[in-house]
Amino acid sequence: MEKIKETTEFLKSKGFANPEIAIILGTGMSELAQIINVKAKLSYKDIPNFPISTVESHAGELIYGDLAGKRVIAMAGRFHFYEGYDFQTIAFPVRVMLQLGAKLLIVSNAAGGINPLFKAGEVMLITDHINFLPGNPLRGKNYDELGPRFPDGYEVYPKKFQEIAEQAALEVGIPLRKGVYLAIQGPCLETGAEYRMIKTLGADAVGMSTVPEALVAKHMSIPVAGFSVITDMGLPDHMEPVSFEYVVNNAKRAELTLKKLITKFIEKVEL
Ligand code: HPA
Repeated sequence: MEKIKETTEFLKSKGFANPEIAIILGTGMSELAQIINVKAKLSYKDIPNFPISTVESHAGELIYGDLAGKRVIAMAGRFHFYEGYDFQTIAFPVRVMLQLGAKLLIVSNAAGGINPLFKAGEVMLITDHINFLPGNPLRGKNYDELGPRFPDGYEVYPKKFQEIAEQAALEVGIPLRKGVYLAIQGPCLETGAEYRMIKTLGADAVGMSTVPEALVAKHMSIPVAGFSVITDMGLPDHMEPVSFEYVVNNAKRAELTLKKLITKFIEKVEL
């Protein structure tokens, strides 16, 4: 709690004041990052108590500025369990962004498509999640100033924001899938048997992030809007080799789509 306060005060002193929306610029969001009218920017390594990013495809910068008429704070580069971080470390920057005043968290990620109607390169709006990770950022002492000991599972991704996202997709003419995101620890992609299991569990997409961040937002009563870029299909009866390059290429294909969709979404959101 002390660290959250210290980092929040530090960022306020650097001009990261009163953001309306927090964004985790996950896979597919680099085009969106380009159109933020940047007012302040810091490397994670220059922010006290921030973890440092290890994945090459992520930048590791905290950005503050205007986007589609709203004040936003954005993480370019997030932290994953498979990198070796614990869940509280993964959650820390999100808690700080929300403590700074953000009223909505927007998240994107790369995910394997489980629903056989999906295709690689499409975008899925997250309607709900399954925490299949081996832990939870809310484990341990509860910080009552942030939220309750036992947060409920009601509308982590509220209907109200899903409807705005669907309306935004209609207006910009983008097909938007909808479904349940299951988070798994990675870093291995799934075997055919695991994809089959995940489908049986009720998920439409599978990935290695997002759920820890969504859980701390829920804890702090902050709504989440989540978008998954389907980078490969997990079809148990049609398994093929999947390379990192294939995943990245399909993510790239979705970047313009996500830029248009999320810009319109931010424009339409009222907070
Ligand atoms: N499984 C898990 N995580 C992923 C996948 C997948 O198939 N694709 C992108 N992230």
